[in-house]
Amino acid sequence: MNLESKIYDRTFANCLMNASGVKCMTFDELEVLRTAENGSFITKSCTLQPREGNPSPRYIDLKLGSINSMGLPNLGFDFYLDYVLNENNRNNKNVFFSLAGLSLEENMEMLKQIQNSDFKGLVELNLSCPNIPGKPQTAYDFDRTKVVLEEVFSLYKKPLGVKLPPYFDMVHFEMMAEILNKFPLKFVTCINSIGNALFIDNETVVIKPKGGFGGIGGAYVKPTALANVRMFYKLLRNDIAIIGCGGVENGRDVFEHLLCGASMVQVGTQLMKEGTDVFHRLILELKEIMQTKGYKNIEDFRGSLKEL
Ligand code: SIN
Repeated sequence: MNLESKIYDRTFANCLMNASGVKCMTFDELEVLRTAENGSFITKSCTLQPREGNPSPRYIDLKLGSINSMGLPNLGFDFYLDYVLNENNRNNKNVFFSLAGLSLEENMEMLKQIQNSDFKGLVELNLSCPNIPGKPQTAYDFDRTKVVLEEVFSLYKKPLGVKLPPYFDMVHFEMMAEILNKFPLKFVTCINSIGNALFIDNETVVIKPKGGFGGIGGAYVKPTALANVRMFYKLLRNDIAIIGCGGVENGRDVFEHLLCGASMVQVGTQLMKEGTDVFHRLILELKEIMQTKGYKNIEDFRGSLKEL
């Protein structure tokens, strides 16, 4: 059975990878991801300068998922650029490099340096971090997103995709898809956490930043993630792949993301809980489902969700 998947002109040994932010900040974490069973991996969303991020506690496991307000802690752009250009990665066309500059200028500076480097992988531009006090999630501002993408593609010519926040309104799906379809994007990642939720335990919030408000991940978000994967799969050009992210705990969740049209599937909360062994388990569980249904390849069923 073959779990290979494609985005643009890249073929991945299987459709699984980490969600940016989960176990991908330090050199050691990235090395574990690079050598695990996932088909690809992505670096922590970085800013030009290193950041401490928000005060702790800023990530809490919940019964049905997680809440976080990390605030983009990262080792800075130079560290991640060095990492993706080191001898183990420099010829890896399948590594994803996540950027989350605090301004358009910062993103353009990082993209300029990547453009001028030997980087051969794919950039995921994060337009959806909900956790920086005072900074809106870019992709909730449709006009701004268009301006950002115009600037980005005027400079950057290597493969690039964007990480989107969840949308909840049919008109918003259509408005965002109309914008995205104008640009030479290679993929979109759906979804980032459902931002600014509140979890209460014993009459108290559970994370410190922003009065306890944080992004929700895990099982709570799976139906929203699947809806976003499905809508963008239907509305975007065929050459823009969808990376599904949200609520993946087992092989059936991976299968459902693929059924909705995802080409790759990112694992966040469950990777945090289980470590990279999760990829081995998910591969076995996905294979079992495919075997039962007589599918030999992901392309035998990808996108083929049935409607009533
Ligand atoms: C964070 O560092 O706050 C998480 C990143 C994100 O949600 O995009």
